Amino acid sequence: MAVAETFTGKAKTSELKSRDLRGWIAAVDRLGELKTLQGADWDVELGAITELAHHQGEQSKALLFDNIKGYPAGYRVLSNTLSTTRRIALTLCMDTSFSRPEFIKAIKRRITEVQYVKPLVVKDGPVMENVFEGQDIDMWKFPTPKWHELDGGRYIGTGSVDITRDPDDGWVNLGTYRVMIHDRDTLGFYISPGKQGRIMREKYFAKGQPCKVAVSFGQDPLLYLAGGMEVPHGVSEYEWVGGLQGRPVEVIEGEYTGLPIPASAEIVIEGEAMPGEVRNEGPFGEWTGYYASSMRPEPIMKVKRLYHRHDPILLGAPPTRPPCEFNYMRCFVRSAMIWQELEAAGVPDVRGVWCHEAGGSRLLTIVSIKQRYPGHARQAGMVATYCHAAAYLGRYTIVVDDDIDPTNTNDVLWALTTRSNPEADIEIVRRSWSGPLDPIIPKGQKGHNSRAIIDACRPYEWMSEFPPVAESSPEVRRAVQEKWGKILGE
Ligand SMILES: Cc1cc2nc3c(=O)[nH]c(=O)nc-3n(C[C@H](O)[C@H](O)[C@H](O)COP(=O)(O)O)c2cc1C
Repeated sequence: MAVAETFTGKAKTSELKSRDLRGWIAAVDRLGELKTLQGADWDVELGAITELAHHQGEQSKALLFDNIKGYPAGYRVLSNTLSTTRRIALTLCMDTSFSRPEFIKAIKRRITEVQYVKPLVVKDGPVMENVFEGQDIDMWKFPTPKWHELDGGRYIGTGSVDITRDPDDGWVNLGTYRVMIHDRDTLGFYISPGKQGRIMREKYFAKGQPCKVAVSFGQDPLLYLAGGMEVPHGVSEYEWVGGLQGRPVEVIEGEYTGLPIPASAEIVIEGEAMPGEVRNEGPFGEWTGYYASSMRPEPIMKVKRLYHRHDPILLGAPPTRPPCEFNYMRCFVRSAMIWQELEAAGVPDVRGVWCHEAGGSRLLTIVSIKQRYPGHARQAGMVATYCHAAAYLGRYTIVVDDDIDPTNTNDVLWALTTRSNPEADIEIVRRSWSGPLDPIIPKGQKGHNSRAIIDACRPYEWMSEFPPVAESSPEVRRAVQEKWGKILGE
Protein backbone atom coordinates (compact mmCIF):
# COMPACT_ATOMS: atom_id res chain seq x y z
CA MET A 1 0.00 0.00 0.00
CA ALA A 2 1.31 3.46 -0.83
CA VAL A 3 2.28 5.54 2.17
CA ALA A 4 -0.05 8.43 3.02
CA GLU A 5 0.99 11.69 4.58
CA THR A 6 1.96 11.15 8.21
CA PHE A 7 1.70 13.55 11.09
CA THR A 8 4.38 13.57 13.68
CA GLY A 9 3.05 16.34 15.92
CA LYS A 10 1.61 15.40 19.28
CA ALA A 11 -1.31 17.13 20.90
CA LYS A 12 -2.10 16.18 24.46
CA THR A 13 -5.49 16.35 26.10
CA SER A 14 -3.89 17.87 29.18
CA GLU A 15 -2.89 20.88 27.12
CA LEU A 16 -6.53 21.96 27.00
CA LYS A 17 -6.98 23.28 30.53
CA SER A 18 -10.23 25.17 30.15
CA ARG A 19 -13.07 24.23 27.81
CA ASP A 20 -13.96 27.53 26.23
CA LEU A 21 -12.67 29.46 23.26
CA ARG A 22 -10.03 31.25 25.34
CA GLY A 23 -8.75 28.00 26.82
CA TRP A 24 -8.53 26.58 23.30
CA ILE A 25 -6.61 29.64 22.05
CA ALA A 26 -4.16 29.40 24.97
CA ALA A 27 -3.58 25.68 24.28
CA VAL A 28 -3.02 26.30 20.57
CA ASP A 29 -0.61 29.12 21.42
CA ARG A 30 1.36 26.72 23.64
CA LEU A 31 1.56 24.33 20.69
CA GLY A 32 3.06 27.18 18.64
CA GLU A 33 0.06 27.18 16.28
CA LEU A 34 -1.40 30.65 16.85
CA LYS A 35 -0.73 33.83 14.90
CA THR A 36 -2.13 37.23 15.96
CA LEU A 37 -2.72 39.80 13.23
CA GLN A 38 -3.35 43.50 13.87
CA GLY A 39 -5.24 45.99 11.73
CA ALA A 40 -6.87 43.79 9.08
CA ASP A 41 -10.09 44.91 7.40
CA TRP A 42 -13.35 43.01 8.08
CA ASP A 43 -14.28 43.81 4.48
CA VAL A 44 -12.92 40.81 2.50
CA GLU A 45 -9.40 40.91 4.00
CA LEU A 46 -10.08 38.56 6.91
CA GLY A 47 -11.62 36.01 4.56
CA ALA A 48 -8.81 36.19 2.03
CA ILE A 49 -6.12 35.94 4.74
CA THR A 50 -7.88 32.86 6.15
CA GLU A 51 -7.94 31.34 2.67
CA LEU A 52 -4.21 31.95 2.19
CA ALA A 53 -3.40 30.55 5.63
CA HIS A 54 -5.36 27.37 5.06
CA HIS A 55 -3.44 26.73 1.87
CA GLN A 56 -0.33 26.28 4.02
CA GLY A 57 -1.79 22.90 4.95
CA GLU A 58 -0.57 21.18 8.10
CA GLN A 59 1.79 24.12 8.75
CA SER A 60 -1.01 26.67 8.86
CA LYS A 61 -1.70 28.54 12.09
CA ALA A 62 -4.95 29.51 13.77
CA LEU A 63 -5.46 33.24 13.18
CA LEU A 64 -6.51 35.72 15.85
CA PHE A 65 -7.39 39.11 14.38
CA ASP A 66 -7.30 42.13 16.69
CA ASN A 67 -7.60 45.90 16.13
CA ILE A 68 -9.83 45.17 13.18
CA LYS A 69 -10.40 48.26 11.04
CA GLY A 70 -13.08 50.47 12.55
CA TYR A 71 -13.47 48.39 15.74
CA PRO A 72 -12.08 48.72 19.23
CA ALA A 73 -9.04 46.73 20.28
CA GLY A 74 -10.09 43.51 21.98
CA TYR A 75 -13.10 42.89 19.70
CA ARG A 76 -11.48 39.96 17.92
CA VAL A 77 -12.13 37.31 15.27
CA LEU A 78 -10.59 33.84 15.33
CA SER A 79 -10.36 31.77 12.14
CA ASN A 80 -8.54 28.84 10.57
CA THR A 81 -9.10 26.86 13.75
CA LEU A 82 -9.67 23.18 12.87
CA SER A 83 -7.44 23.12 9.83
CA THR A 84 -4.59 20.92 11.04
CA THR A 85 -4.80 17.41 12.42
CA ARG A 86 -3.04 18.51 15.60
CA ARG A 87 -5.71 21.11 16.30
CA ILE A 88 -8.52 18.70 15.44
CA ALA A 89 -6.99 16.14 17.79
CA LEU A 90 -6.55 18.70 20.55
CA THR A 91 -10.20 19.71 20.19
CA LEU A 92 -11.39 16.11 20.32
CA CYS A 93 -9.23 15.46 23.42
CA MET A 94 -7.10 13.02 21.49
CA ASP A 95 -3.40 12.43 21.24
CA THR A 96 -2.07 12.07 17.75
CA SER A 97 1.06 11.01 16.06
CA PHE A 98 -0.96 9.03 13.59
CA SER A 99 -1.00 8.66 9.85
CA ARG A 100 -4.15 10.03 8.27
CA PRO A 101 -5.91 6.62 8.02
CA GLU A 102 -4.99 5.80 11.62
CA PHE A 103 -6.31 9.14 12.81
CA ILE A 104 -9.68 8.50 11.15
CA LYS A 105 -9.81 5.06 12.75
CA ALA A 106 -9.00 6.54 16.15
CA ILE A 107 -11.79 9.12 15.79
CA LYS A 108 -14.16 6.32 14.78
CA ARG A 109 -13.24 4.40 17.93
CA ARG A 110 -13.69 7.50 20.04
CA ILE A 111 -17.15 8.41 18.74
CA THR A 112 -18.27 4.78 18.88
CA GLU A 113 -17.30 4.44 22.53
CA VAL A 114 -18.61 7.84 23.66
CA GLN A 115 -21.05 7.80 26.57
CA TYR A 116 -23.35 10.81 26.40
CA VAL A 117 -23.13 13.28 29.31
CA LYS A 118 -25.99 15.69 29.97
CA PRO A 119 -25.15 19.41 30.20
CA LEU A 120 -24.95 21.02 33.63
CA VAL A 121 -27.28 23.97 34.19
CA VAL A 122 -25.54 26.82 36.03
CA LYS A 123 -26.87 30.22 37.08
CA ASP A 124 -24.13 32.45 35.75
CA GLY A 125 -21.11 32.49 33.48
CA PRO A 126 -18.74 34.78 31.58
CA VAL A 127 -21.21 35.20 28.68
CA MET A 128 -23.36 37.28 31.07
CA GLU A 129 -20.69 39.96 31.48
CA ASN A 130 -22.65 42.23 29.11
CA VAL A 131 -26.41 41.91 28.59
CA PHE A 132 -28.51 43.97 26.17
CA GLU A 133 -32.16 44.04 25.20
CA GLY A 134 -34.57 46.22 23.21
CA GLN A 135 -33.05 49.35 21.69
CA ASP A 136 -29.64 48.54 23.17
CA ILE A 137 -29.16 45.52 20.92
CA ASP A 138 -26.73 46.24 18.11
CA MET A 139 -25.43 43.33 16.06
CA TRP A 140 -23.11 45.68 14.13
CA LYS A 141 -20.96 46.20 17.23
CA PHE A 142 -18.81 43.17 16.39
CA PRO A 143 -16.20 43.16 13.60
CA THR A 144 -18.26 40.71 11.54
CA PRO A 145 -16.46 39.92 8.30
CA LYS A 146 -17.73 40.16 4.81
CA TRP A 147 -15.87 36.94 4.08
CA HIS A 148 -15.92 36.84 0.26
CA GLU A 149 -16.17 39.50 -2.42
CA LEU A 150 -19.54 38.38 -3.81
CA ASP A 151 -21.24 37.82 -0.45
CA GLY A 152 -24.55 39.60 -0.09
CA GLY A 153 -23.78 40.70 3.45
CA ARG A 154 -21.75 40.26 6.61
CA TYR A 155 -21.97 36.77 8.09
CA ILE A 156 -21.65 36.72 11.87
CA GLY A 157 -22.52 33.02 11.98
CA THR A 158 -20.08 30.59 10.36
CA GLY A 159 -18.25 28.96 13.28
CA SER A 160 -21.41 29.29 15.31
CA VAL A 161 -24.12 26.99 16.68
CA ASP A 162 -27.87 27.57 16.36
CA ILE A 163 -29.73 26.08 19.30
CA THR A 164 -33.37 24.99 19.00
CA ARG A 165 -35.71 22.67 20.87
CA ASP A 166 -37.91 20.11 19.16
CA PRO A 167 -41.52 21.12 19.89
CA ASP A 168 -42.71 17.50 20.00
CA ASP A 169 -39.96 15.59 21.78
CA GLY A 170 -38.25 18.42 23.66
CA TRP A 171 -34.68 17.50 22.73
CA VAL A 172 -32.21 20.29 22.00
CA ASN A 173 -30.33 20.44 18.71
CA LEU A 174 -27.17 22.41 17.96
CA GLY A 175 -26.53 23.00 14.27
CA THR A 176 -24.02 25.18 12.49
CA TYR A 177 -26.15 27.15 10.07
CA ARG A 178 -24.89 30.37 8.53
CA VAL A 179 -26.19 33.64 9.98
CA MET A 180 -26.22 36.98 8.17
CA ILE A 181 -26.82 40.39 9.73
CA HIS A 182 -29.81 42.22 8.23
CA ASP A 183 -29.95 45.10 10.70
CA ARG A 184 -29.14 45.89 14.33
CA ASP A 185 -31.62 43.35 15.72
CA THR A 186 -32.49 41.18 12.72
CA LEU A 187 -30.54 38.17 11.50
CA GLY A 188 -31.10 35.82 8.58
CA PHE A 189 -30.34 32.12 8.98
CA TYR A 190 -30.14 29.65 6.15
CA ILE A 191 -30.84 25.98 6.95
CA SER A 192 -30.88 23.43 4.14
CA PRO A 193 -33.98 21.24 3.72
CA GLY A 194 -33.91 18.13 5.90
CA LYS A 195 -31.43 19.41 8.50
CA GLN A 196 -32.57 18.88 12.07
CA GLY A 197 -32.82 22.60 12.87
CA ARG A 198 -34.91 23.11 9.74
CA ILE A 199 -37.30 20.29 10.63
CA MET A 200 -37.74 21.78 14.11
CA ARG A 201 -38.34 25.26 12.68
CA GLU A 202 -40.89 23.90 10.23
CA LYS A 203 -42.72 22.09 13.02
CA TYR A 204 -43.20 25.39 14.90
CA PHE A 205 -44.23 27.21 11.75
CA ALA A 206 -46.74 24.48 10.82
CA LYS A 207 -48.41 25.12 14.19
CA GLY A 208 -48.36 28.87 13.51
CA GLN A 209 -45.93 29.36 16.41
CA PRO A 210 -42.66 31.29 16.61
CA CYS A 211 -39.49 29.21 16.59
CA LYS A 212 -37.34 30.28 19.53
CA VAL A 213 -33.67 30.12 18.82
CA ALA A 214 -30.39 30.92 20.55
CA VAL A 215 -27.15 31.30 18.62
CA SER A 216 -23.63 31.19 20.01
CA PHE A 217 -21.06 32.98 17.85
CA GLY A 218 -17.90 32.01 19.71
CA GLN A 219 -17.45 28.94 21.93
CA ASP A 220 -15.30 25.91 22.52
CA PRO A 221 -14.50 24.68 18.98
CA LEU A 222 -15.66 21.20 20.03
CA LEU A 223 -19.21 22.55 20.21
CA TYR A 224 -18.77 24.04 16.75
CA LEU A 225 -17.35 20.74 15.47
CA ALA A 226 -20.41 18.93 16.86
CA GLY A 227 -22.80 21.54 15.45
CA GLY A 228 -21.33 21.11 11.98
CA MET A 229 -21.56 17.33 11.96
CA GLU A 230 -24.36 14.79 11.68
CA VAL A 231 -24.71 13.79 15.31
CA PRO A 232 -27.53 11.17 15.43
CA HIS A 233 -31.13 12.38 15.40
CA GLY A 234 -32.52 12.84 18.90
CA VAL A 235 -29.07 13.17 20.50
CA SER A 236 -28.24 16.67 21.69
CA GLU A 237 -24.79 17.83 20.60
CA TYR A 238 -24.35 19.03 24.20
CA GLU A 239 -24.49 15.42 25.38
CA TRP A 240 -22.20 14.21 22.61
CA VAL A 241 -19.65 16.89 23.46
CA GLY A 242 -20.00 16.21 27.20
CA GLY A 243 -19.14 12.59 26.49
CA LEU A 244 -16.14 13.43 24.32
CA GLN A 245 -14.66 15.93 26.78
CA GLY A 246 -15.44 13.72 29.78
CA ARG A 247 -17.41 16.34 31.69
CA PRO A 248 -20.71 18.15 31.22
CA VAL A 249 -20.94 21.30 29.15
CA GLU A 250 -21.99 24.14 31.45
CA VAL A 251 -25.09 25.92 30.20
CA ILE A 252 -27.32 28.77 31.34
CA GLU A 253 -31.02 28.69 30.59
CA GLY A 254 -31.73 31.74 28.45
CA GLU A 255 -34.14 34.20 30.00
CA TYR A 256 -36.13 34.73 26.79
CA THR A 257 -36.14 31.30 25.16
CA GLY A 258 -35.38 28.94 28.03
CA LEU A 259 -32.84 27.34 25.69
CA PRO A 260 -29.53 26.16 27.15
CA ILE A 261 -26.69 28.48 26.08
CA PRO A 262 -22.98 27.78 26.68
CA ALA A 263 -22.09 29.59 29.92
CA SER A 264 -18.61 30.53 28.75
CA ALA A 265 -19.52 31.50 25.20
CA GLU A 266 -18.15 34.74 23.77
CA ILE A 267 -21.30 36.10 22.09
CA VAL A 268 -24.83 34.69 22.27
CA ILE A 269 -28.20 35.94 21.09
CA GLU A 270 -31.66 34.78 21.97
CA GLY A 271 -34.41 35.44 19.50
CA GLU A 272 -37.26 34.05 17.54
CA ALA A 273 -38.28 33.40 13.95
CA MET A 274 -41.91 34.07 13.06
CA PRO A 275 -43.79 32.03 10.45
CA GLY A 276 -43.92 33.92 7.14
CA GLU A 277 -41.32 36.55 8.08
CA VAL A 278 -38.60 36.34 5.45
CA ARG A 279 -35.95 38.50 3.83
CA ASN A 280 -33.49 37.92 1.04
CA GLU A 281 -30.48 35.92 2.23
CA GLY A 282 -27.20 35.37 0.37
CA PRO A 283 -25.41 35.02 -1.86
CA PHE A 284 -22.66 33.45 0.23
CA GLY A 285 -19.48 31.63 -0.80
CA GLU A 286 -20.35 28.01 -0.05
CA TRP A 287 -18.51 24.78 0.82
CA THR A 288 -18.93 23.39 -2.69
CA GLY A 289 -16.73 26.27 -3.87
CA TYR A 290 -19.56 28.26 -5.50
CA TYR A 291 -22.31 30.76 -4.77
CA ALA A 292 -24.90 28.20 -5.87
CA SER A 293 -27.86 29.03 -3.65
CA SER A 294 -27.60 32.65 -4.76
CA MET A 295 -30.12 34.94 -3.06
CA ARG A 296 -33.57 33.75 -1.89
CA PRO A 297 -36.11 34.76 0.74
CA GLU A 298 -35.29 32.93 3.99
CA PRO A 299 -36.67 33.19 7.53
CA ILE A 300 -35.30 35.90 9.77
CA MET A 301 -34.90 35.95 13.53
CA LYS A 302 -35.54 38.98 15.68
CA VAL A 303 -32.92 39.33 18.39
CA LYS A 304 -34.46 39.75 21.85
CA ARG A 305 -31.35 39.46 24.02
CA LEU A 306 -27.68 39.91 23.28
CA TYR A 307 -25.00 38.63 25.66
CA HIS A 308 -21.25 38.91 25.32
CA ARG A 309 -18.04 38.65 27.26
CA HIS A 310 -15.74 41.61 27.68
CA ASP A 311 -13.52 41.83 24.60
CA PRO A 312 -15.51 39.17 22.75
CA ILE A 313 -14.02 36.81 20.19
CA LEU A 314 -16.06 35.85 17.15
CA LEU A 315 -15.33 32.36 15.85
CA GLY A 316 -15.28 32.32 12.04
CA ALA A 317 -15.16 29.39 9.64
CA PRO A 318 -15.62 30.72 6.11
CA PRO A 319 -16.18 28.20 3.34
CA THR A 320 -14.35 28.68 0.03
CA ARG A 321 -13.32 26.68 -3.00
CA PRO A 322 -11.97 23.40 -1.57
CA PRO A 323 -9.72 22.52 0.04
CA CYS A 324 -10.62 24.95 2.78
CA GLU A 325 -10.55 25.20 6.54
CA PHE A 326 -14.31 24.82 6.81
CA ASN A 327 -14.21 21.36 5.29
CA TYR A 328 -10.96 20.02 6.68
CA MET A 329 -12.18 18.79 10.08
CA ARG A 330 -15.34 17.52 8.42
CA CYS A 331 -13.29 15.24 6.14
CA PHE A 332 -11.89 13.44 9.19
CA VAL A 333 -14.96 13.43 11.39
CA ARG A 334 -17.39 12.52 8.59
CA SER A 335 -15.09 9.67 7.46
CA ALA A 336 -15.13 8.34 11.03
CA MET A 337 -18.91 8.74 11.29
CA ILE A 338 -19.55 6.92 8.01
CA TRP A 339 -17.21 4.15 9.12
CA GLN A 340 -19.09 3.90 12.42
CA GLU A 341 -22.43 3.73 10.57
CA LEU A 342 -21.11 1.07 8.15
CA GLU A 343 -20.19 -1.08 11.14
CA ALA A 344 -23.51 -0.40 12.86
CA ALA A 345 -25.28 -1.50 9.66
CA GLY A 346 -23.39 -4.77 9.75
CA VAL A 347 -20.98 -4.17 6.87
CA PRO A 348 -17.94 -6.26 7.80
CA ASP A 349 -14.24 -5.69 7.17
CA VAL A 350 -14.24 -1.98 6.43
CA ARG A 351 -10.57 -1.01 6.32
CA GLY A 352 -10.88 2.74 5.82
CA VAL A 353 -13.08 5.64 4.75
CA TRP A 354 -12.12 9.00 3.29
CA CYS A 355 -14.42 11.91 2.54
CA HIS A 356 -12.20 13.73 0.11
CA GLU A 357 -11.28 17.39 0.59
CA ALA A 358 -12.00 18.19 -3.06
CA GLY A 359 -15.63 17.26 -2.55
CA GLY A 360 -15.89 19.35 0.60
CA SER A 361 -16.21 16.13 2.65
CA ARG A 362 -19.53 15.30 1.01
CA LEU A 363 -19.27 14.91 -2.77
CA LEU A 364 -16.68 12.14 -2.95
CA THR A 365 -16.49 9.30 -0.45
CA ILE A 366 -14.08 6.41 -0.70
CA VAL A 367 -14.53 3.20 1.27
CA SER A 368 -11.95 0.46 1.43
CA ILE A 369 -13.05 -3.10 2.25
CA LYS A 370 -11.65 -6.60 2.38
CA GLN A 371 -14.15 -8.31 0.06
CA ARG A 372 -15.70 -11.31 1.81
CA TYR A 373 -18.72 -12.27 -0.31
CA PRO A 374 -20.54 -11.41 -3.53
CA GLY A 375 -22.33 -8.07 -3.23
CA HIS A 376 -20.18 -6.89 -0.29
CA ALA A 377 -18.84 -3.94 -2.29
CA ARG A 378 -22.29 -2.75 -3.42
CA GLN A 379 -23.59 -3.07 0.13
CA ALA A 380 -20.72 -0.96 1.47
CA GLY A 381 -21.26 1.59 -1.31
CA MET A 382 -24.99 1.90 -0.68
CA VAL A 383 -24.66 2.29 3.09
CA ALA A 384 -21.77 4.74 2.75
CA THR A 385 -23.90 6.79 0.37
CA TYR A 386 -27.13 6.91 2.33
CA CYS A 387 -26.23 6.63 6.02
CA HIS A 388 -27.01 9.70 8.15
CA ALA A 389 -23.53 11.23 8.01
CA ALA A 390 -23.44 10.97 4.21
CA ALA A 391 -27.00 11.28 2.97
CA TYR A 392 -27.18 15.03 2.30
CA LEU A 393 -25.71 16.34 -0.96
CA GLY A 394 -23.41 13.46 -1.80
CA ARG A 395 -22.41 12.59 -5.36
CA TYR A 396 -19.83 9.82 -5.85
CA THR A 397 -18.96 6.87 -3.64
CA ILE A 398 -16.06 4.68 -4.69
CA VAL A 399 -15.51 1.29 -3.06
CA VAL A 400 -11.95 -0.04 -3.27
CA ASP A 401 -10.10 -3.14 -2.08
CA ASP A 402 -8.12 -3.22 1.13
CA ASP A 403 -4.76 -2.77 -0.62
CA ILE A 404 -5.88 0.76 -1.51
CA ASP A 405 -5.44 3.60 0.97
CA PRO A 406 -8.66 5.62 0.59
CA THR A 407 -6.87 8.82 1.65
CA ASN A 408 -4.33 8.47 -1.14
CA THR A 409 -5.75 10.05 -4.29
CA ASN A 410 -3.34 8.33 -6.69
CA ASP A 411 -4.10 4.96 -5.16
CA VAL A 412 -7.85 5.56 -5.45
CA LEU A 413 -7.67 6.79 -9.05
CA TRP A 414 -5.49 3.82 -9.97
CA ALA A 415 -8.10 1.42 -8.56
CA LEU A 416 -10.92 3.34 -10.21
CA THR A 417 -9.30 3.30 -13.63
CA THR A 418 -8.06 -0.28 -13.56
CA ARG A 419 -10.56 -2.28 -11.48
CA SER A 420 -13.89 -0.82 -12.54
CA ASN A 421 -15.64 -1.39 -15.81
CA PRO A 422 -18.04 1.52 -16.34
CA GLU A 423 -20.81 -0.51 -18.02
CA ALA A 424 -20.99 -2.93 -15.07
CA ASP A 425 -19.69 -1.15 -12.04
CA ILE A 426 -21.51 2.16 -11.74
CA GLU A 427 -24.91 2.24 -10.06
CA ILE A 428 -26.88 5.44 -10.48
CA VAL A 429 -29.48 6.26 -7.84
CA ARG A 430 -31.84 9.10 -8.67
CA ARG A 431 -33.97 11.50 -6.62
CA SER A 432 -31.55 11.67 -3.72
CA TRP A 433 -31.38 14.36 -0.99
CA SER A 434 -29.87 17.58 -2.27
CA GLY A 435 -30.75 21.26 -1.94
CA PRO A 436 -30.13 24.82 -3.09
CA LEU A 437 -26.36 24.61 -2.54
CA ASP A 438 -25.94 21.94 -5.22
CA PRO A 439 -24.13 23.67 -8.11
CA ILE A 440 -25.10 21.09 -10.77
CA ILE A 441 -28.85 21.49 -10.26
CA PRO A 442 -30.40 24.40 -12.16
CA LYS A 443 -32.11 27.15 -10.17
CA GLY A 444 -35.76 26.37 -9.56
CA GLN A 445 -35.21 22.60 -9.74
CA LYS A 446 -33.03 22.24 -6.69
CA GLY A 447 -34.15 19.48 -4.35
CA HIS A 448 -33.02 16.14 -5.72
CA ASN A 449 -29.75 15.00 -7.21
CA SER A 450 -28.39 11.63 -8.29
CA ARG A 451 -25.60 9.46 -6.88
CA ALA A 452 -23.04 7.24 -8.54
CA ILE A 453 -21.79 4.29 -6.55
CA ILE A 454 -18.69 2.93 -8.21
CA ASP A 455 -17.42 -0.53 -7.46
CA ALA A 456 -13.68 -0.21 -8.06
CA CYS A 457 -12.83 -3.48 -6.32
CA ARG A 458 -11.41 -6.43 -8.23
CA PRO A 459 -14.48 -8.30 -9.61
CA TYR A 460 -15.47 -10.71 -6.86
CA GLU A 461 -16.09 -13.70 -9.19
CA TRP A 462 -12.54 -13.77 -10.55
CA MET A 463 -10.71 -11.85 -7.88
CA SER A 464 -8.01 -14.50 -7.56
CA GLU A 465 -7.30 -14.48 -11.31
CA PHE A 466 -7.13 -10.69 -11.52
CA PRO A 467 -3.74 -9.64 -12.96
CA PRO A 468 -1.08 -9.44 -10.28
CA VAL A 469 0.16 -6.00 -9.28
CA ALA A 470 3.39 -4.97 -10.94
CA GLU A 471 5.41 -3.85 -7.96
CA SER A 472 8.14 -5.41 -5.88
CA SER A 473 7.10 -7.66 -3.04
CA PRO A 474 7.74 -6.44 0.52
CA GLU A 475 10.57 -9.00 0.83
CA VAL A 476 12.37 -7.78 -2.29
CA ARG A 477 11.86 -4.17 -1.24
CA ARG A 478 13.29 -4.83 2.21
CA ALA A 479 16.32 -6.61 0.81
CA VAL A 480 16.96 -3.89 -1.76
CA GLN A 481 16.45 -1.19 0.83
CA GLU A 482 19.09 -2.76 3.03
CA LYS A 483 21.55 -3.14 0.20
CA TRP A 484 20.92 0.04 -1.80
CA GLY A 485 19.07 2.36 0.58
CA LYS A 486 22.16 4.42 1.52
CA ILE A 487 23.05 5.07 -2.08
CA LEU A 488 19.47 6.04 -2.88
CA GLY A 489 19.55 8.41 0.09
CA GLU A 490 16.53 6.94 1.86
C1 LIG B 1 -18.87 26.13 9.26
C2 LIG B 1 -20.13 25.42 8.85
C3 LIG B 1 -21.18 26.12 8.29
C4 LIG B 1 -22.35 25.47 7.90
N1 LIG B 1 -23.38 26.21 7.38
C5 LIG B 1 -24.55 25.60 7.11
C6 LIG B 1 -25.68 26.36 6.66
O1 LIG B 1 -25.60 27.56 6.48
N2 LIG B 1 -26.84 25.72 6.46
C7 LIG B 1 -26.96 24.36 6.64
O2 LIG B 1 -28.04 23.81 6.46
N3 LIG B 1 -25.89 23.62 7.03
C8 LIG B 1 -24.72 24.21 7.28
N4 LIG B 1 -23.65 23.47 7.69
C9 LIG B 1 -23.79 22.02 7.79
C10 LIG B 1 -24.51 21.63 9.05
O3 LIG B 1 -23.95 22.27 10.15
C11 LIG B 1 -24.45 20.12 9.23
O4 LIG B 1 -25.14 19.51 8.19
C12 LIG B 1 -24.99 19.69 10.56
O5 LIG B 1 -25.00 18.29 10.63
C13 LIG B 1 -26.39 20.20 10.74
O6 LIG B 1 -26.84 19.89 12.00
P1 LIG B 1 -28.05 18.87 12.15
O7 LIG B 1 -27.47 17.53 11.78
O8 LIG B 1 -28.36 18.97 13.59
O9 LIG B 1 -29.11 19.32 11.25
C14 LIG B 1 -22.47 24.09 8.07
C15 LIG B 1 -21.41 23.37 8.64
C16 LIG B 1 -20.25 24.01 9.03
C17 LIG B 1 -19.13 23.22 9.65
